Amino acid sequence: MMMNVMKSIGWMMGLAILSTESIAHAGDKHQYGPYPANYAEECGSCHVPYPPQRLTSAGWETQMRNLQQHYGSDASVDAATNRAILSYLVANASSKEKSAPAEPTARMTQTRWFIKEHGTKPPKGLAFSNCAGCHTQADKGDFSERTLKAPAGWRHGD
Ligand code: HEC
Ligand code: HEC
Repeated sequence: MMMNVMKSIGWMMGLAILSTESIAHAGDKHQYGPYPANYAEECGSCHVPYPPQRLTSAGWETQMRNLQQHYGSDASVDAATNRAILSYLVANASSKEKSAPAEPTARMTQTRWFIKEHGTKPPKGLAFSNCAGCHTQADKGDFSERTLKAPAGWRHGD
């Protein structure tokens, strides 16, 4: 009995993971939202919630393990919330090498895919970590071309 319940929970989780992935990649529209409330609240107050699909699970584990010393801020959450957010991030993480952490703090903006798309020189006065500075609907997980407004004159990819 217990085994059957466990199996069907596992199966449902599998489905949930599949469907988020197919939304994220449907027609390559770069729609990663909507995010679950706990993630949006805990990880979207200082910066936009970063798209889970753009960092590997190793990267998210590093992020969630070091929240007390999070780039000069204390971003820690209680243990249950940490587990819940981490399992959401890991279930939706990238498995691609180009999304693997490239430095010890696992910045998304230092991954290979990010540098390939954006280069290494942000426009004056705007940090790459401020996704919403160009992706105007980034808070909703929308990174489509339609909502992208990079500062005039900025040549990305330099
Ligand atoms: C108290 C404010 C605060 C909260 C809450 C917070 N962060 Fe951050 N986060 C920061 C700061 C500050 C930076 C560094 C930004 C910079 O260097 O430009 C950062 C950077 C990051 C980066 C790296 C961005 C890059 O440059 O690639 C990731 C990933 C990240 N945060 C994930 C999270 C996650 C996951 C949570 C929720 C558990 C979270 N953050 C909650 C303040 C916060
Ligand atoms: C200074 C402006 C700017 C900032 C800040 C910025 N981006 Fe972008 N982003 C761009 C531009 C421009 C493109 C389009 C590149 C192209 O089409 O060649 C892009 C493309 C993308 C894409 C599409 C990549 C693909 O595979 O087609 C994603 C996803 C993305 N950015 C995510 C992010 C995330 C996440 C952040 C914050 C951590 C961020 N961007 C910060 C300007 C920016």
